[in-house]
Amino acid sequence: MSTIDLLRVALRWVHLTAAVVWIGGTLFYVLAIQPSLDTEEKAAGWRTIRQGVERQFHEIVQVCIWTFFISGAILTYDRLTSVNPGLDYIAALVVKVLLVLWMVYISGGLRRSGARKPIGSAKKKPSSAGSVFQRLRSPVLQIAIIGVIVLLLADLLKVLAENALGPL
Ligand code: HEM
Repeated sequence: MSTIDLLRVALRWVHLTAAVVWIGGTLFYVLAIQPSLDTEEKAAGWRTIRQGVERQFHEIVQVCIWTFFISGAILTYDRLTSVNPGLDYIAALVVKVLLVLWMVYISGGLRRSGARKPIGSAKKKPSSAGSVFQRLRSPVLQIAIIGVIVLLLADLLKVLAENALGPL
């Protein structure tokens, strides 16, 4: 394995780890913390630590975002200069970057305004289609959903690039 291959592995590892931290942390919040706050007592307990937890997570997310832009730019340069991946690759990459910018925008709004509603206020179980749409207005849930789509696009990019390399 050449030095350039080792650098590629390191870069992909950094990029992937940042993805695990941001999307994994967000999914943990949506899938584990939010549903477990089903009584006023639990919600009150969470409210006492919420601000500190969210501030800490926002700082970590900031580091992840810088990591994505730097490592993502190098990965893009590397792919576009080492293979000719085709127009479908470029299209998928453009969609991916636009979705990432959207996530960064939502995340910046959350950080600036501290707008995440106290989770205790969401403890009523949604029971109608209306409440599904209400849920989708949650910025954290939006980041989780867009993040999962971005992961899918990352997979697609990899397959498209491998296809462009041709049979080994
Ligand atoms: C502007 C920011 C970003 C750019 C320019 C970018 C670009 C790229 C590129 C070019 C690749 C290589 C694809 C290939 O194999 O050909 C890649 C891989 C990947 N990206 Fe991103 N990306 C960005 C942000 C993100 C974000 C926010 C996530 C997470 C939600 C993410 C998750 C991944 C994953 C999981 C891989 C596969 C890594 C691997 O297994 O090697 N990326 N990205």
